[in-house]
Amino acid sequence: PLETRCPPTPLRQYGGFWWPEPILPGVVAARARFEPRPSDVFLASFPKSGTTWLKALAFAALHRADHPPRAPDHPLRRRNPHDCVEFLEGLFALSPSPVKGGDVFAPHPSPRVIATHIPYSLLPGSVTTEGTGCKIVYVCRDPKDALVSKWQFTKKRLAFAAAAPDNPPKPCTVDEMFELFCDGRCTYGPQWHHVLGYWEASRRQPEKVLFLRYEEMLRDPVGNVRKLAEFMGCVFSGKEEAAGVAEDVVELCSMDTLKNMEVNKNGTQNSVKNEAFFRKGVAGDWSNHMTPEMAARLDKIVEDALQGSGFAFGDTAEST
Ligand code: A3P
Repeated sequence: PLETRCPPTPLRQYGGFWWPEPILPGVVAARARFEPRPSDVFLASFPKSGTTWLKALAFAALHRADHPPRAPDHPLRRRNPHDCVEFLEGLFALSPSPVKGGDVFAPHPSPRVIATHIPYSLLPGSVTTEGTGCKIVYVCRDPKDALVSKWQFTKKRLAFAAAAPDNPPKPCTVDEMFELFCDGRCTYGPQWHHVLGYWEASRRQPEKVLFLRYEEMLRDPVGNVRKLAEFMGCVFSGKEEAAGVAEDVVELCSMDTLKNMEVNKNGTQNSVKNEAFFRKGVAGDWSNHMTPEMAARLDKIVEDALQGSGFAFGDTAEST
């Protein structure tokens, strides 16, 4: 069936969203067992919206005292951002059974940076409660670009799996994935509901939830990394600003730098090569793969879903 080809993992509906089936036990376990600390920073996103970049930026900014961004042995020069910042639901999915212990993040030293694709409404209540202290950074991206990025990524995942002997299915076409995406049937979809949950939370609790946009990060990476650092409680000092440390963080985490690192050229994650996480990194690539009619149809679905929310996708500087 189509759903097994795009994405190549089966999906299951739960709490109004579509989930990769193997992850669902991890979500349930995280909701039951994760114990937040006030210094925790969560990086939340819908897949293919700039998660890898945000992981690198937040990790580099938060740990810059121990690991100056120019250091030749910086962890991000040796490890993929996904190995520096783990997914909440991913790590819990590895030991979903309570008999295997409590909080799998407990051994991680503070301050912890933890990523998640879990929609806001389904995050552990211990994380979203106002008094908990931990913070959430969300990055959103134009759904058309997230969709095209996902399609390209899925092809690479399937090519990786093709090296295995079990004869994996052929990748779907962009049209096929488009139909499922419009229907909300994609990992963590519907995308617009995912975004809306975090958008509304950021309006209600701006001190707890920072809402970033991929397109704005591309236009002004240094401004956004300053915003990110300030929100995480590690604002760049005057001395650091004079030394260009924010610029150094941006440079370390840029597409060009990360893409050309040995670990990201030849390393792998469980189901894909690291290089699959670094493709073009631009806004508007959808126009090379979708027809204007497809774009108009998806835009209309999204516009209808967002009505009355005060939210619209894209760079806010362009719409004012
Ligand atoms: P494209 O496929 O459009 O190029 P995620 O990290 O959530 O999986 O998102 C992947 C998208 O972010 C890909 O988009 C990828 O190229 C882009 N990306 C990865 N690293 C980046 C970086 N350092 N700067 C800008 N974009 C980056």
